[in-house]
Amino acid sequence: MNFKVLKSKIGFAAEVFGIDARQNVSQEHKIELTRLINEYAVIIFKNQKINDDQQIKFSENFGTIEPAGTNTELTKMKDRRLSLKMNDVSNLDKNNKPLAKSNQNRIFGLGNRLWHTDASFKKKPVTFSILSGRKVSAKGGETEFCDMRCGYKALSKEMKNKVENLIGEHSLQYSRGKLGFVMKDVLSKKELEKFKPVLQPLVRKNSITNRKSLYLSAHLGLIKGWELADSILFINDLIEICACSDYIYSHKWEENDLVIWDNTQVMHRGRYFNDQKEVRDVRRTTIAGTEMLIDQ
Ligand code: OGA
Ligand code: MN
Repeated sequence: MNFKVLKSKIGFAAEVFGIDARQNVSQEHKIELTRLINEYAVIIFKNQKINDDQQIKFSENFGTIEPAGTNTELTKMKDRRLSLKMNDVSNLDKNNKPLAKSNQNRIFGLGNRLWHTDASFKKKPVTFSILSGRKVSAKGGETEFCDMRCGYKALSKEMKNKVENLIGEHSLQYSRGKLGFVMKDVLSKKELEKFKPVLQPLVRKNSITNRKSLYLSAHLGLIKGWELADSILFINDLIEICACSDYIYSHKWEENDLVIWDNTQVMHRGRYFNDQKEVRDVRRTTIAGTEMLIDQ
């Protein structure tokens, strides 16, 4: 069975028709959807009015759900708006009111505005993310995607050789540090232990398509064995190559859009919206990785 697929101008994002995320997905459809996500890396379903349970069930077609961050005491269980299977990517507190400017959870969440792949700081990094737009902002708040396969392809032969065996160190400390969030000032020693960098290769190969891509993220802060300053400059250069405007798909949200992306092949970032005036309630489920890419 083939779904009707409408490819975006940019090529790696596509709208897929013929799915109702509230319904069971047949084995045949599951295989076809998985193939499409691997092939394109961003797929969009319109008009999917779902609740959290339906989102969780639909997501489980693609693997096991990675629980939302429990690494810190930043969001205490009692302050959580959503269950642990859901990542709250909204600008809301548990009473559905916008988080104040200086709220630490808001500031932590602003990390989503940096180019990143989700949870690359896990020893077994996550695969797909599934984001549901329950309420979207009237102005701004797009999600942008860039293709790390094109980024890899654009490298010179010399650069391809250079990156092939490099190892990156990923941690939330690096991404949040970029926004001036000094984790060691707000977290206990025990919590900080959980943010020890994990190692990931800089180049990945997709097992279905055999296409190679860079594996970058705002969480990537150091190249193993390199000086910090050299690492930062090198990583910035690679991110710039991937995020060149020729390769960007910008998703302009409409209510009830459901977007799935493959964190192993694309980076993404949220764009500015007025989070003090507007409500943007987007909720993410994330599929756990099944393998460690290199020994830690
Ligand atoms: C995410 C994310 C960006 C956005 O859900 O992982 O980074 O536009 N979202 O909300
Ligand atoms: Mn993200």
